[in-house]
Amino acid sequence: MPKTRSVAVLVGSLRKASYNRKMALALAKLAPDTLKLGIVEIGDLPLYNEDVETAGAPAAWVQFRGEVKAADALLFVTPEYNRSVPGGLKNAIDVGSRPYGSSVFGGKPGAVVSVSPGAIGGYGANHHLRQSMVFLDVPTMQQPEAYIGGAATLFDEQGGIVSETTRGLLTKFMQAFAAWVEANAKG
Ligand SMILES: Cc1cc2nc3c(=O)[nH]c(=O)nc-3n(C[C@H](O)[C@H](O)[C@H](O)COP(=O)(O)O)c2cc1C
Repeated sequence: MPKTRSVAVLVGSLRKASYNRKMALALAKLAPDTLKLGIVEIGDLPLYNEDVETAGAPAAWVQFRGEVKAADALLFVTPEYNRSVPGGLKNAIDVGSRPYGSSVFGGKPGAVVSVSPGAIGGYGANHHLRQSMVFLDVPTMQQPEAYIGGAATLFDEQGGIVSETTRGLLTKFMQAFAAWVEANAKG
């Protein structure tokens, strides 16, 4: 019997009406019961600066690190900014990765979903993020991939996924992620 696993969800967009935030909430509903998804907020994290760390980590960093550390797994849901990861998400990754040797990410199974109104579904951000995950020792699910384009027409008024085909693909993605987490989680 698989255990229930907590998943820290990092949303790469900070805007209220974000398609990526909607996607994160939709994925929480489509996920199997063994995964409990919770968004860990990144919008109030001061920019990473090693001098600030030395002087005493800001409360927002400490809280963020604690929330990620407590989770069994990681799910990134992100837009693409200039063919890469938005600065706010990269900052969160940098904050969580330090102090050196105390990263809160290491060894936690992860997955990446990128969402864009454009046709290529945030492919560039998705893969730049994977590059950081290699260094941070986050075993990141390879298949299925999720580059979700056409974001402007994805959701209904309640935040549900309009297209049955897309809903089916995302459900399969979350089922595969649950199996990935079960196979790779510590403990
Ligand atoms: C600074 C900036 C850069 C962007 N660069 C890209 C890009 O490289 N590729 C892309 O598909 N969309 C790009 N966009 C458009 C975003 O995909 C679009 O704003 C999207 O709605 C952001 O995700 P969100 O709805 O979750 O906030 C960019 C938007 C901003 C603000």
